Amino acid sequence: MSERLEDIAVAMVANGRGLLAADESTATIKKRFDGIGLESTETSRRDYREMLVRADEAMRKYISGVILYEETLFQKAADGTPLVDVIRAAGSIPGIKVDAGAKPMTNFPAETITEGLDGLAQRLTKYYEAGARFAKWRGVIAISDTLPSPGAVRANAHALARYAALCQEAGIVPIVEPEVLMDGAPGDHSIDRSQEVTEWTLRVTFEALAEMRVKLEGMILKPSMVIDGKKARKASVAEVAERTIKVLRRTVPSAVPGIAFLSGGQTTEEATAHLSAMNATHILPWKLTFSYGRALQQEALSAWNGKAENVAAGQRAFSHRAEMCSLAAKGSWKKDLEKAA
Ligand code: 13P
Repeated sequence: MSERLEDIAVAMVANGRGLLAADESTATIKKRFDGIGLESTETSRRDYREMLVRADEAMRKYISGVILYEETLFQKAADGTPLVDVIRAAGSIPGIKVDAGAKPMTNFPAETITEGLDGLAQRLTKYYEAGARFAKWRGVIAISDTLPSPGAVRANAHALARYAALCQEAGIVPIVEPEVLMDGAPGDHSIDRSQEVTEWTLRVTFEALAEMRVKLEGMILKPSMVIDGKKARKASVAEVAERTIKVLRRTVPSAVPGIAFLSGGQTTEEATAHLSAMNATHILPWKLTFSYGRALQQEALSAWNGKAENVAAGQRAFSHRAEMCSLAAKGSWKKDLEKAA
């Protein structure tokens, strides 16, 4: 496989394929495991992620790359094979979340700045040697009638752009993720407000990327969709699709090869339906696909339920969901296909 940034980026958004975000931090995966009554240990985290990356059908046909947490990048499967090799053997690309998390931002109550730039160049060299060919950094943008503030939008955009430049220098494709929260507090914003804030955030992010001389051909954008807050959800699938496309057309240069959405707390079916509607109704300058965490994993996690005897059931659930998302990336998902699951 080519090592050129442009070629890796194109492979990450190849037709009908998308990314599995399995990079939950130790605190977040504990929350997910709490939901099935499973203790989070290094071994249980390994077992769960091994189940996913060994789901052969999903990995070979639908998953172009897997975003890993640092622990997983260096972990071995139960039989001693590095998980990175399991991913590569399935024709998928290993990636790594490199930010150190969103931290309270001084002078900006209720807003965060994502940390992790110090020493990042050295860490990227280590991750490249371990097999990572793309990375992820998530900036978090709060939304309400009065938030975000220009200071927080700019600081997060600047960090994303500095991160992206360092990745490209290390031969790693940056996934640039400015997430406008859809289920954060207060979570009752309208779709108009979501559109306004998403457009502003993306515009400032691309200004910062240009300022830091990031090569657009060698990056992937991971945005949130334009959608009303979780406590005010009433927009139709068509409206979410139309407004999201409108904002992306206004802000994302066509040199960017692909846009891979986060699911952000949408239900599995909402996330699939929205992506499909966007692809079904538009001819677009970039590939539009998925980079889902919860919306790809929820069903697999419940079917597995932390038990070795359920590995095959968990893998079937994951493969089905990956297939639905793949259809959505081609604009051909239909609700009745869900019933066949
Ligand atoms: P969700 O799809 O669960 O939002 O996770 C994607 C992700 O990587 C968020 O950073």
